[in-house]
Amino acid sequence: MLEVSKSGFGDYQCNNAMSLFPRIRESATNLGNPNAVGQAIADNLPPSRIVESTSVVGPGYVNIVLSSDWIAQRIQDMLIHGIESWSPILPVKRVVLDFSSPNIAKEMHVGHIRSTIIGDTLARIFEFANIEVLRRNHVGDWGTQFGMLIQFLFEKFPNGEEAANQAIGDLQSFYRDAKKKFDENPDFKGRAQQAVVRLQRGEDRYLAAWKSICQISRNEFDLVYKRLNVELEEKGESFYNPYIPRVLEELTGKGLITESKGARVIEGRKPPLIVVKRDGGFNYASTDLAALWYRLNVEMAEWIIYVTDVGQQQHFHSVFSAARMAGWLPDQKEEKYPKASHVGFGFVLGADGSRFRTRSSDGAVRLVDLLDEAKSQSLAQLIKRLTENGQIAKWTDEELDKTSEAIGYGAVKYADLKNNRLTDYKFSYEQMLSDKGNTAVYLQYAHARICSIIQKSNKDVEELKMTEFITLGHPDERSLGLHLIQFAEVHAFDYSFIEAV
Ligand code: ARG
Repeated sequence: MLEVSKSGFGDYQCNNAMSLFPRIRESATNLGNPNAVGQAIADNLPPSRIVESTSVVGPGYVNIVLSSDWIAQRIQDMLIHGIESWSPILPVKRVVLDFSSPNIAKEMHVGHIRSTIIGDTLARIFEFANIEVLRRNHVGDWGTQFGMLIQFLFEKFPNGEEAANQAIGDLQSFYRDAKKKFDENPDFKGRAQQAVVRLQRGEDRYLAAWKSICQISRNEFDLVYKRLNVELEEKGESFYNPYIPRVLEELTGKGLITESKGARVIEGRKPPLIVVKRDGGFNYASTDLAALWYRLNVEMAEWIIYVTDVGQQQHFHSVFSAARMAGWLPDQKEEKYPKASHVGFGFVLGADGSRFRTRSSDGAVRLVDLLDEAKSQSLAQLIKRLTENGQIAKWTDEELDKTSEAIGYGAVKYADLKNNRLTDYKFSYEQMLSDKGNTAVYLQYAHARICSIIQKSNKDVEELKMTEFITLGHPDERSLGLHLIQFAEVHAFDYSFIEAV
């Protein structure tokens, strides 16, 4: 087996000689020590234009230096044929990626930003490997809270939906007011519970109100996705409602569902997974079981991935274990696919280390405010820099606007991705918009400089690829080239990094 060399003696290293030695010492008496085994490995490598030289050091480490010409040729080929020519081949064809998934009538918050950015990135990685990705927005569009919202809507605007649509423009405060009344007024609470029943029965007026509330939220979510350039297809919780009864029936038939304190549960992992509440209603878990069934049997996904904060890990593991008991998913030890994975992530913290909150209100930071802020801070920086170097007059307002969006939103995305997925991270505009160190701004700057070098050559990029040849003469160029070809290797491990917990 070959590993990237860390010793600095070669580019790659083979460390098998040490473990082979005790196994062959009886039969191969001419190889008196591990170093001799290493030497034998090196001497018997088939001739290849890939390898420049080998050396054996210490107790038998075989170091391999790649041919610089070969590295250069590999990069040149990639330039000509496109980065797709480096895509890995994976054993799956279709993946369902459940990400972003905010809740209707509530604002998207900073926790959803991580899900949106990480989920979109995973989708892009799969798409790069030519896998069909069903990007699913599992929005929270169903549940008892809708009774409260609809009833509140009817009582506040008895004269029709038009006025109501306008008034619930600010859904978050609408939600807060409805909740307040629900908590404080028992009569209203009773009417709200009635409204849920009528909505579930599918009464026209209730369905129409539910739809318009969903639409208002959807419009707001779409603005955020547009700004982040993320594509998603909504299949909310309500979509799976019709499947729940028969899925639960199947699980009951398999003897998996038992009665516990008036609720119906699936035992297996602790605590048991409640799938029918005491009042007979379905919940988050019953919806997720139906969704998993649908994704496996109707959408025929081979890998289903859920991106949420680590707080939901237990929920998903209980759902997966129920699916394994039902025989929907193979026992992990036997077969690998189809499989389900929860990709968790840590929380976003403010500068003081506590959960990130808005300055003004009680709730978590709204995603739109955060993007606005990132954009306006990057615009201020840009204007300052352009004024200092006397370039500002050359820039149109539109260019300033577009550039500050690219920098600001890019900074938010990159800051999210560069951190360890599972640890909490501190949100800091100052750090993420810095032009030094490992930031989006620095990367974008490097990219802009490369573009400007190409521009100054006065040649077309396509022409350059065909007529200029890459040479890796300088040690820095060579190490950059080596690093580039290792990009293809990162992917070669079956994407198991996605599951690393
Ligand atoms: N709506 C949920 C939330 O905001 C996330 C849904 C994740 N996906 C799922 N299939 N449960 O926390």
